[in-house]
Amino acid sequence: MNSPWHISILTLFPEMFPGPLGHSLSGKALENGIWSFKAVNIRDFAQGVHKSVDDTPYGGGAGMVMRPDVIEKATLSIENPGRKIYLSPRGKPLTQKLVQELSEEPALTLLCGRYEGVDQRVLESQDYEEISIGDYVLSGGEPAAMILMDACIRLLPGVLGNEDTVSEESFSSGLLEYPHFTRPAQWTSADGHIREVPEILTSGDHSKIRDWREGQAESVTKARRPDLWNIRENARLSGKKPKK
Ligand code: ADE
Repeated sequence: MNSPWHISILTLFPEMFPGPLGHSLSGKALENGIWSFKAVNIRDFAQGVHKSVDDTPYGGGAGMVMRPDVIEKATLSIENPGRKIYLSPRGKPLTQKLVQELSEEPALTLLCGRYEGVDQRVLESQDYEEISIGDYVLSGGEPAAMILMDACIRLLPGVLGNEDTVSEESFSSGLLEYPHFTRPAQWTSADGHIREVPEILTSGDHSKIRDWREGQAESVTKARRPDLWNIRENARLSGKKPKK
């Protein structure tokens, strides 16, 4: 069997892991040895009676900053670190393309910050890439690490077991996904509306269904994510084929 996708997590809260990743699809994949992890407690590398991992920022300002010496020791303790990532709102955005790339790495190290952040010098000396999961600020990097891991784990070979699922879903083609419907075909919602499934989906005409879904994916993307739509349009106009 292949060696598992291995994730080392540097955190002040190792007991948070695997957390939600120990359930459902990712939990099964963990049990099946498709991925593995080690949560390393940053505090184990702090020195002195107080074992302090942070200090006040030079130049003043709010909050505390994680010390470079402690983060360096914690990082160097990892035997096979692979690509090193610091989860931070200052990072480059986590996209489906980056998720795909990271899922193909044999090992990753994820540094989860608390407080105001981590001393810039150790991020540079230890070659940390900064990645953000979105334009909002979390109280720590742990939930961001879990999101990155979840998005990667479902792409690992043997996790989903249905190649079509990944190629049709949101973002893999640069479009949001078309809407989904299931039984009952006619359903009365609590507000008394009779709601039908779009007729085309019960027609059995697979080519028409494909066209309808494509049209739906395009219109929802145009309406909700003009940024994605414009990227796709520009690619189309410059002669590049959309990924499909
Ligand atoms: N830590 C705090 N906020 C974050 C964000 N938006 N992305 C990644 N890590 C974070």
